[in-house]
Amino acid sequence: MTINSPQLHPASTAARPLRLAILLAGICFVPANLPASPASDADALLAKMTLDEKIGQMVQVDSGALKDKADVQKYFLGSVLSGGNSDPADNRPETWLKLVEDFKAQALQTRLKIPLLYGIDAVHGHNNILGAVIFPHHVGLGAMHNPALVEKAERVTAEEVAGTGINWAFAPCIAVSRDIRWGRSYESFGPSTAEVAKNGAAGVKGFQGSHLGKNSVLACAKHFAGDGGTENGKDEGDTVCDEATFRKLYLAPYAAAIKAGAGSIMVSFSSWNGQKMHGNKYLLTDVLKGEMGFQGFLVSDWAAIDQLGPDYQSDIQTSINAGLDMVMIPAGPGEGHNYAEFIADLKALVAAGKVPEARINDATRRILTVKYQMGLFDRPATDPVLTQSIGSDAHRQVARECVRESLVLLKNSGHVLPLKKNLKHIAVVGQAAADLGIQCGGWTIDWQGKTGAVTTGGTTLLAAVKLAAGADTEVTFSADGRDLKGADVIIVAVGEQPYAEMKGDRQDLSLPAADAQLIAGAKSAGVPVVTVLYSGRPLVLGAALDQSDAFLAAWLPGTEGEGLADVLFGKSAPRGKLPRLWPADHGQLSVDHLTGQPLFPAGFGLTY
Ligand code: GLC
Repeated sequence: MTINSPQLHPASTAARPLRLAILLAGICFVPANLPASPASDADALLAKMTLDEKIGQMVQVDSGALKDKADVQKYFLGSVLSGGNSDPADNRPETWLKLVEDFKAQALQTRLKIPLLYGIDAVHGHNNILGAVIFPHHVGLGAMHNPALVEKAERVTAEEVAGTGINWAFAPCIAVSRDIRWGRSYESFGPSTAEVAKNGAAGVKGFQGSHLGKNSVLACAKHFAGDGGTENGKDEGDTVCDEATFRKLYLAPYAAAIKAGAGSIMVSFSSWNGQKMHGNKYLLTDVLKGEMGFQGFLVSDWAAIDQLGPDYQSDIQTSINAGLDMVMIPAGPGEGHNYAEFIADLKALVAAGKVPEARINDATRRILTVKYQMGLFDRPATDPVLTQSIGSDAHRQVARECVRESLVLLKNSGHVLPLKKNLKHIAVVGQAAADLGIQCGGWTIDWQGKTGAVTTGGTTLLAAVKLAAGADTEVTFSADGRDLKGADVIIVAVGEQPYAEMKGDRQDLSLPAADAQLIAGAKSAGVPVVTVLYSGRPLVLGAALDQSDAFLAAWLPGTEGEGLADVLFGKSAPRGKLPRLWPADHGQLSVDHLTGQPLFPAGFGLTY
C-alpha cells in the first residue's frame, strides 16, 4: 500500500452493499442474518469475560516498564505504549516491528485472544524511529492553512507507524494554545479554535481514513481539554475561565474530532478552575460522552491519575468513576504505582462497590468496540510494503511540501529573496544551519529531542543550500559567523534548542543573545542578511528584524530541509501565514491578555 493507494483506508466493509441494496430497494423487511456490528461483537465478547480480563483491557503499560513481556498475557493487558524515551536499542524499523509483534503475540495467547492496541507519540511523523520522515511540528502545519495537506501528512505518518506494526498514534494534538510561554505551543495548530478544529479533524482522517477500518491507525485527539489555556502558559497548569468560554475555546475542536470519527481521546494533565481534568466527571462523562456523543474511549496521560490524590486507590476510584476508560501506567513492579498494583486496587474497589461493575463494562465495551471497528481481531501481519515505505522518497516529498507551505516570510527588503542563481558566494552562518536536531525540535528520536548529529536521516539547511545553489556558487559555513569576507549574501540560521512539555515553559521569549549577536555580526559585513528562525513559537526579536534584510519564520520544519531551499531560491514562493500574532515585546505573549501592539498580526505573511 502506498500513500496514494486507496487500500490504506478501504472505503467499506462487506456489509455496506447489502445495507445499501435494502435501502435502495425500499424493502421494509430486515433480513434475520444482518452481519454483526462492532458494538454487538463487543457485547458478545464482554459477556464471556472475567473481571480480571475486563480490567486488563483498561490497562496500558509502557514497553520500558514491561521487563517480562509475558505480563501482557498474565494480566490480560489491553494496550502497550512506547513513551518518548522507550526505544529499542538500535531504533531501526525492523527492530521496532519485532518488539511490537512480540507484545502483540503475548496478547493473542490469552484465553480470549483479544488483540493489543500498541500506542506511540507520532506527533510530527513517526518521530521515535530511526530514518522516519519527520514533518514540521503543528505550529508550522498551522501556518499552512491547508487541512487537506495536514490530512496527507498524517496519512504518510500512519503508513510509517503501521510499517512498524503499531496501530495507535497519540495524535493529533488539538490544543488551542493561547499563551506562547507554554512549552507545548509548537504541538498546537495555534490559538484559533476554528483553525485547530479544521486541522484536527483533518489529522484524524489522515490517521484513520473516512472511518475506523482494517487499515486505520487509531487517532487520539489530545489533551482534553483546555491544555493550551492555562494561566501564564504553565504546562499541566490551571485553565481559569467560565464555562461558556471553556466550551467556545476548548471543546469545539473535540466536536470536530468526534465528527471526523476519532476513536480515542487523551485526557489532559491540566485543570479547569482548579479541578484536575482526570477527575472531572461532568466534562468527561456528562459533556464529552453524553452531550457531545463521543463513542470511543478515553485514555489517561502518563501516570496522570497519580496527581489526583490523596492516595492511589482514590486516584483510581475518582478517575474511573469520572469516565476514564484506559489508564496509562508507565511503571512496572517495584517502580511506584505500577500496573499490578492498579489492577489489584481496581478489583478491590469493584468488590467494595466503590467502582460499579457497570462502569468497568462500559469502559471495556468502548475499548473492544474500537478494536472491532479497526478489524484488529482478524488483521493480517504487517505488510512489508509499509515497513519499506518508512523514509521513502515519496513520503519525503510530502514532508518537503509541508515545509514549503509552512514558511512565513516576515521581511524581504530590496527583494533579497529569492536568491539569484548567479551568486558567487553564499555564506551560511550559525550552528542551527547544520543541526538536524534544532531543525526538528522536541519529540524527535528522544522525548526532548537533541542537538548535534541526530541519529536519523534528513537534510539540513546547509546541505539543502549546497544542493540548490548554482554550480558556480561557493557555499561556505561557519557556526560562529567569522570569516564572511567575499560573501554576496549571508544566510544566518538561529533558533530555540529542542525541548518538550514542561521543559519548554519559558517566561522570557527573547531571541537568544548568541543568536542576536550572530545576526548583528552578519549585518556588519555589509552584504544582504537572510535570517532563518527555527522556533516552536514566535520570539521577541529585538533588533534582529531590523538587522535582517529578509526574515523567514521556519518554525520546526523537520528532516526535509530542501523545502527551505525551495523557497530561498524561488523554486516555490512562500505562502505561509502566521497562525498567531507575532509579539513586538513581552506584552503580547498571551492572546487573552494583550498590552501594546504586536509586531505582525495573525494572518501576516509576504510572498514573492
Ligand atoms: C506525555 C504527554 C502526552 C503523550 C504521553 C505518552 O506526558 O503529555 O502528550 O502522549 O505522555 O508519551
